[in-house]
Amino acid sequence: MAKTSASKVEEHVLGIMDPNSLSFRASLEKLLAHLSPEIKHGGKTHKVGTRRISCRPYMTLGARTECSAIVNRGAHWNPHHNSFFQIVAPTVYLLNDMTSFKAIDKNTGYGHMYDLGLHIPRTVAIPQRDYDDLKKSSTIDLELTFSEFEMFSLEEIGEEVGYPAFIKPQDGGGWVGVKRVENFAELQAAYDESGARPQNLQQAIDYTEFVRTVAIGPQAMPMHYNAKAEHPHHRYLRGPGEAVVFNWLTAEQEWEVKAISKIINAFYGWDHNSCETLIGHDGVIYPIDFCNAYPDSNLTSLHFYFPDLVKAMVKWLLFVSVSGYRKPHGFSYHWDRFFKVRDDANSKKWSYKKRIQEYEAIADDHFHTKKFEEFCKKDLGGADFDRRCLEWFESDDFDEVLVAQVKQFFKFPHEWDQQNMHYRGIHAFWCHCERQRLGLNGQG
Ligand SMILES: Nc1ncnc2c1ncn2[C@@H]1O[C@H](COP(=O)(O)OP(=O)(O)O)[C@@H](O)[C@H]1O
Ligand SMILES: [Mg+2]
Repeated sequence: MAKTSASKVEEHVLGIMDPNSLSFRASLEKLLAHLSPEIKHGGKTHKVGTRRISCRPYMTLGARTECSAIVNRGAHWNPHHNSFFQIVAPTVYLLNDMTSFKAIDKNTGYGHMYDLGLHIPRTVAIPQRDYDDLKKSSTIDLELTFSEFEMFSLEEIGEEVGYPAFIKPQDGGGWVGVKRVENFAELQAAYDESGARPQNLQQAIDYTEFVRTVAIGPQAMPMHYNAKAEHPHHRYLRGPGEAVVFNWLTAEQEWEVKAISKIINAFYGWDHNSCETLIGHDGVIYPIDFCNAYPDSNLTSLHFYFPDLVKAMVKWLLFVSVSGYRKPHGFSYHWDRFFKVRDDANSKKWSYKKRIQEYEAIADDHFHTKKFEEFCKKDLGGADFDRRCLEWFESDDFDEVLVAQVKQFFKFPHEWDQQNMHYRGIHAFWCHCERQRLGLNGQG
């Protein structure tokens, strides 16, 4: 909770919890310490600091937090955190809250977004292959369980979806259990190996561009993604010997992938999420993976894009804290509005573009996009904020984060020097581009 003194200074604490990526957590804390924000807004001066949310005992009854916003990137594996966050959620801006992410998996997302009219590839949900865990259960009666299943023909499902196709867990993540199949024999073999997780069979999209958009609040950042890269930490690099390219999307494509990300996030009340879209040879943009409660936010994966991601999170945290905005209770809060647009779009035969624009307007309303942009320009000081951030990204303090992250990610000490050089090189390129963008080149 923010504290106000008689001199109209309001103090805010941002709670940071991210056991998944050292560099993201450390950068948020250190950049905010460097900025030490004193923001003039609504007739007050707002001072903002951070606090690490650690795992500790708390009185459940009447639990409260002093934080005005909390970054939660770990409650999925720690129920102790999860229940605390759920209790305090009505009094704090919580990003992300697990209610929606526990309820909405990849497969639910496909169904809802298809309903809204997005271009989801043909996808059939298939019950799990193995029931070994159920056989071990003392509370489940197998005879009753199996009477709830119908026989089905995998071959017919394969024909319905068409080949090539991808078989993947309905609640998947991190490429685990994802296989491309070219024919029924491969599908059968993959399904036989798929274990106890319900699967999806999805039409494979032959694409010209793979776009991964990470969005934080209304800020959506499309990044090129190289799914063919051998190592996951090289996937945001354009290709061998080429870290990054610019203007690789048309203005129309860029608008659409950004709009889709915002729409999905507003629909489910998510603040930080990644949305993978494939631009098909037919020019159609297909979302294929967009329910990611803890999108990869590590420096070692994001390379060039890392500073902008950190800055986006800092801006969003400052905005929601200082403005006092809270999210609506209940993640389906806007569904009636979305479905009204869908019904109008269907009955009045709107173009796809108009449909997306109308959904986007709801998303911008949800995220207070105009107010946020004004806040960044006026209250944060626009380019001045960018310059202060650049100062930190060029500092030894940031370099220490980089080195610590490399050390943590690459397990073999003999790799560290070379990896430090690699990441420092790309980061220096980002700093150069940022200097150029801010008109600072030539100034040291
Ligand atoms: N329908 C599809 N068309 C083309 N490639 C796909 C499709 N589905 C998955 N893939 C490929 O498989 C990878 C992993 O699948 P994805 O749905 O993103 O699962 P995960 O949640 O495990 O990341 C994707 O990054 C992409 O390279
Ligand atoms: Mg994916």
